[in-house]
Amino acid sequence: MVKPVRKAVIPVAGLGTRFLPATKATPKEMLTVVDRPVVQYCVDEAFEAGIEHVIFVTGRGKGLIEDHFDYQYELDSTLRSRGKEAAADKLDAETPGAGQVSFTRQQKPLGLGHAVWCARDIVGDEPFAVLLPDMVMDGEPGCLKQMMDAYEEVGGNIISLQETSPELTHKYGIVSTGEEKGKAFEITGMVEKPAPGTAPSNLYINGRYILQPGLMELLANQSTGAGGEIQLTDAMLTMMETEPFYGVSFNGRTYDCGSKFGFLEANIMLALKHDDVRDEVRELIASLDL
Ligand code: G1P
Repeated sequence: MVKPVRKAVIPVAGLGTRFLPATKATPKEMLTVVDRPVVQYCVDEAFEAGIEHVIFVTGRGKGLIEDHFDYQYELDSTLRSRGKEAAADKLDAETPGAGQVSFTRQQKPLGLGHAVWCARDIVGDEPFAVLLPDMVMDGEPGCLKQMMDAYEEVGGNIISLQETSPELTHKYGIVSTGEEKGKAFEITGMVEKPAPGTAPSNLYINGRYILQPGLMELLANQSTGAGGEIQLTDAMLTMMETEPFYGVSFNGRTYDCGSKFGFLEANIMLALKHDDVRDEVRELIASLDL
């Protein structure tokens, strides 16, 4: 039996300069897609997949995220006193329970690999998931759950992948793949943000990882890579030399909410799945004379 994945690391220290001025005082992870902050989609996805403890790696000015995942006593009692029990119960159910959430800080913006490494002591000696909240996933079941199903079969390290167009490969980590194994396939290579025209495939890492604890030791000694930052992809590449590494093709859609278009796309596409606004959004789109 494989060792269960109980903890998830969610890096939220990034500045979000692409969304200025919206992100001047508001963390980019708190921008809303329809009616939920971006970061809540990935927390929901983590708990749906069976994660028991979420670890946020925060930075300066991200206090709102901590408040968001706290119990809001005044709000709860106001809702209940007005007879809005269902709304209060829903908020309650979505809030992590006592001891299910931790916060640590990445003091300097040294890269994604460094952010994950900041969580090493809280993760301890067990496998863990990483979820990048910029990537909002729409899948049934969720992306991490799909990966967990594969993990139960093959164990090891697993990343989620999706196809992108050749013009966009320079924005992501790109992999090359080998043989199929159950619900997964072997990863034979990976490169972070390859120069245009040099990507080994169109398969990009879409921001969900299941990793073995040895990766934290590799991150401790990882030198800087693409963009002068300590890259998670580079440490994973080293890990591949000694440990099994698999990819799972995500059955669903990924919205890159780190880009303005991806964020708008997520809002429109997910609004079309919300009972309370679906019809109006459809009508609006149908009425557009472009
Ligand atoms: C990170 C990873 C990259 C991955 C991407 C997904 O890049 O380093 O491999 O494809 O997330 O969003 P970042 O977006 O932090 O530059």
